[in-house]
This record gives sequence, structure tokens and C-alpha cells, in this order.
Amino acid sequence: MNVISLTVWTLENNCFIVYTTLIVCFTAFTIFHQKRLEDRYSRSVERKEKIPRNFSGGRERDFPDDEGDDPDQLIPALPEDTPHIPYQPPRRCDEEVLKRSQEFYELMAQRRTVRAFSPEPIPDEVLENIIKTAGTSPSGAHTEPWTFVVVQDPEMKEAIRTIVEEEEDLNYSKRMSRQWVTDLKPFATKPVKPYLSDAPALLLVFRQTYSWRPDGKKKMHYYSEISVAIAAGILLAAIQYCGLVALTSTPLNCNARLRDLLSRPSNERLELLLPMGRPHEGATVPDLARKPLNEILVKI
Ligand SMILES: Cc1cc2nc3c(=O)[nH]c(=O)nc-3n(C[C@H](O)[C@H](O)[C@H](O)COP(=O)(O)O)c2cc1C
Repeated sequence: MNVISLTVWTLENNCFIVYTTLIVCFTAFTIFHQKRLEDRYSRSVERKEKIPRNFSGGRERDFPDDEGDDPDQLIPALPEDTPHIPYQPPRRCDEEVLKRSQEFYELMAQRRTVRAFSPEPIPDEVLENIIKTAGTSPSGAHTEPWTFVVVQDPEMKEAIRTIVEEEEDLNYSKRMSRQWVTDLKPFATKPVKPYLSDAPALLLVFRQTYSWRPDGKKKMHYYSEISVAIAAGILLAAIQYCGLVALTSTPLNCNARLRDLLSRPSNERLELLLPMGRPHEGATVPDLARKPLNEILVKI
């Protein structure tokens, strides 16, 4: 009798025992496996519960870069004994506050993105005042994570234009979604950008993702994105206040090439490229309406 016929003979003559054994084994395996899954789940829940939560619902440490550092040895990036000094800006009565709020609104409501510039130069002192104004912006833990590069040199403006136009050619033809390109049609934007040569000054806003402290330690830049965005808003307000115009642009995929061209370090990221100056006498802007107050304001 060979092995196969012996197996068949055993199964035929002991089928009750064989099937009972199989059912018992299957039931035991299922119970064992289920218990293992339950144990694993309860261990993961326990682990999650061990992570303390602060009052805002976030994890205890949102920036855990100092893991491994002795907490008693940590030194603040600014001197711990930084004095607190009196702050008494002029107190204005309600009427004056109202008048100023109305005047400032009217001024800012005139701001438009301009895409055709007169080449008239802008005095250096004006450019410096505008950048100084942007530099007054608040920033996360006063890290001031910005670098403003001002380009007036015609050759450098031309080099910037070449890079932006090469990338924009690819952006429009391959990289941006068709919907995106379609949404830009009302603004008549194109890969060709004469304003990059025509505008008397190009302001490039770089975000420092981190920096270095005098003691050689890495300096964390908390909330660098929003800090730079606020500084850019103040920069635009300053340009508007002094009677000049700008084009807010975010050159897509140009960061590395423009950073190298302008010799900026690798911790900096290009966020905005703002050609600025006076509008070309024939400049036009799309006739856009702004959302009414009741669509942007929620009073509680
Ligand atoms: C973050 C950001 C990126 C922008 N990028 C470009 C751009 O790359 N090219 C451009 O021509 N305009 C750009 N704009 C300008 C907008 O198209 C413009 O602000 C918008 O149409 C409203 O017009 P206004 O600025 O005249 O009020 C950008 C604006 C912002 C805020």
C-alpha cells in the first residue's frame, strides 16, 4: 500500500475523527488570533493615551528638535534677561481712530497688482525705507525669518527674467493643471514677462527656514511662513503708502535657480518676487470687485 492510498483509506475510515480535529484546530486558531489582535490594539491605545495633550489639543511638543538635549541646559535664543521697557504710543481719541481707519482703508483699496511698469528709477533711500518698514513685522519668537533682495542692476534683472520665463514656459505647458491655466485667463498673464526687465526694482522675499545662533546652535524659526507672509503684507502697504505699485508674484519652480543666481544660502527659500516702481502710463488692470464686508466678516 503506497502513501496516497494509505491516506485515502485513513480518511475514509476515520472521517469523524479527522473532521472533528480540523474543526477544533480552526476554532482554537481563530480564538488565539483574535486575542492577539485585541492585545495589540489595546497596547496602541495605551501608547496614544500616554502622549500628554496640552490645552489646545495639540501634542505636547510641536517642534521636538531638542530631543536628547538636557532641558536644564537649554538657553533661549534671545537673552533671558531681556528688559521689558514702557511702551506708550500716542493715545488717539475715538474720532481720530475712526478717521484714520477710514483713510487707511481708502488708501489700501486703491492698491492694485500692476503688470506694466515705467522704467523711472526709484531712489535708494525709498527702497531702504520700504524694506525697513517690512522689517518691523512681527515674527514667531522674534526670529525675523526674512531676507529681502533688491535688484536694480539691468543685467541681473535680465538673468532673473530668463530663468522665470524658461520655468513659466514649462509651468504653463506641462506643470500647471489645465484648470489653473484657464483660471488665469482673465488676468492675461503669460510666460513672457517684460515687467521683469522694465520695472526699476525687483524685490525678492526669501524665507529663512532656520538660522544659526552665535553659539553655533541651530536657531529654530517658528511659524516662518506666516511671519514672512505678514512682512510681505506690510511691504505691500508701504509701497502703496508711498505712491508706488508692485506685482505680487510667486515664481513657480524658480526657487533653486534664483537662489543660486543671487547667492542665497540653502536655508533660504524664495517666497515672492515683487517687481515695483511706477505704473507704465498705459497700464491697465482687470476690473475686479472685492467681496463685501458681510462675506468676509463674522461678528460674534
Ligand atoms: C500669493 C500670490 C501670488 C500671486 N502670483 C501672481 C503671479 O505669479 N503672477 C501675476 O501676474 N499675479 C500674481 N498674483 C496677483 C493676483 O493675481 C492679484 O493679487 C489678484 O488678481 C487680485 O488683484 P489685485 O492685486 O489687483 O487686487 C499673486 C497674488 C498673490 C497674493
